[in-house]
Amino acid sequence: MTFNRLWVGAAALAGIATLASMTLTTEVRGQSTDTAPQYTPDGQLKLPVGFETWVFVGSNLGLAYKEELPANTALEAALLNKQEFHNIYINPEAYAYFLAHKEFPDKTVLVMDVFAAPDREPRDVLAAGVYNGNQIGLRVAVKNLHRPDHSTTPWAYYTLMDPFDPVPVMAASAKAHEDVACEKCHEKHAGKDNVWVQFYPTLRKLLP
Ligand code: HEC
Repeated sequence: MTFNRLWVGAAALAGIATLASMTLTTEVRGQSTDTAPQYTPDGQLKLPVGFETWVFVGSNLGLAYKEELPANTALEAALLNKQEFHNIYINPEAYAYFLAHKEFPDKTVLVMDVFAAPDREPRDVLAAGVYNGNQIGLRVAVKNLHRPDHSTTPWAYYTLMDPFDPVPVMAASAKAHEDVACEKCHEKHAGKDNVWVQFYPTLRKLLP
């Protein structure tokens, strides 16, 4: 009887463990396979979920762009007056492909997570330096050879949170910017296939 009870208890425990591990596996699988760009039915890019767990390729502080394009003049002026961190991530599948082939595959996603750069914190313990403060922006670049908005430009650029908004808010989805607003500068000056690998040590070191 005692033995039977023990056995039932052990079996129940094993059952729970199996269930728990099944849930865990599904979650881990869900995370690693869902990094392809997701779109709304009208072709807007959905906010990439879980990009914080992707491959971090580099960060910069206060990088401002030269006045190249008319559309960029206001952007440039505003950036020069504003120090902010750009933290850049790539989806793991695209990173693995880049590692093997030195090319960005179809469905590459790069996220630029933008933070304010304060030099004070509430306890006032800092003597020098700046840190990642409030999140103030999120921009996304997606390579898609079959874009749902039917544009044939492979790279599309999106703003999910606009650092220039007085009170930036995260959108659930966004439609692609016109090529002239973003893509043209990337296409002309970025180091490798529209991506600024020259600023990302994790990718830069993989190139000859
Ligand atoms: C005048 C040039 C220029 C324009 C216009 C421009 N960018 Fe960029 N972009 C850059 C540079 C330089 C970087 C390098 C990294 C950084 O700024 O942090 C970059 C990096 C990025 C990245 C990180 C991934 C990558 O491709 O390297 C994203 C995402 C991005 N830009 C989105 C946008 C969006 C959205 C727009 C339009 C609203 C835009 N960019 C317009 C110059 C430009």
